[in-house]
Amino acid sequence: MAAEYERRRPDYPEEALRWAAEQIGLGEGARVLDVGAGTGKLTRGLVALGFDVVAVEPGAPMLEQLRMAVPQAEAHVGPAESIPLADASIAAAFAGQAFHWFDPERALPELHRVIAPGGGLALLWNWWDERDPLQRELGELVGYAGLEPYRDDELPGAPWFRELGRTVVESVEQSSPDAIVGYLSTASMFLTAEPQKREESLRKVHELASRYGESFPFPRLTYVFTFARVGDG
Ligand SMILES: C[S@@+](CC[C@H](N)C(=O)[O-])C[C@H]1O[C@@H](n2cnc3c(N)ncnc32)[C@H](O)[C@@H]1O
Repeated sequence: MAAEYERRRPDYPEEALRWAAEQIGLGEGARVLDVGAGTGKLTRGLVALGFDVVAVEPGAPMLEQLRMAVPQAEAHVGPAESIPLADASIAAAFAGQAFHWFDPERALPELHRVIAPGGGLALLWNWWDERDPLQRELGELVGYAGLEPYRDDELPGAPWFRELGRTVVESVEQSSPDAIVGYLSTASMFLTAEPQKREESLRKVHELASRYGESFPFPRLTYVFTFARVGDG
């Protein structure tokens, strides 16, 4: 599953990472944390920008995959609610497609503890672009229509963090019916579905996507939020 995840899920656009780093005011080579790092999709992007990256992920098989994919990053098993790093040891924390899994009551003070004064936090989500007719139809079919990957009232806030800014970065990749089925088969709603239902839904997805051809441009939205760490201590 971890290997499938690595193969099927999209990367984060460089523009999104640069925007977040600039908002937080990260210096060259700063030490940053990727929390809920999974197989290292975001870790890889942060390493490519020259940051000194430490990845923390609770799932050992995911972390194994990360160690192979991004050997430049330091990697530790652990959850966002109990991060195995010293106080004030990183300039910023990033979380890609992961913050909604954290328990904010415990993860926010913990992130605040490991981030140094003056540092920040960036949250990213790759998401559907329902202006695209195929994705609008898909949304109706699989149930994400009209949804957003985050909840505004659950984003980080006082007393730990203060929002700096938010943006949406648009990117386009080439996709295909098989790629869409592969991607959706790594989504939790399909992983947890009973096998027969899962197969049937994925067959319908393939049928729908095939109406758009064998290969087609697939626009994507990346939501990016940045936060300043509040306080000197
Ligand atoms: C959708 S994946 C995203 C992985 C990676 N950041 C990426 O962008 O590909 C969500 C990740 O959050 C991790 N996760 C779930 N609960 C977590 C928690 N409480 N603390 C840290 N990570 C968690 C999962 O193990 C999984 O690797």
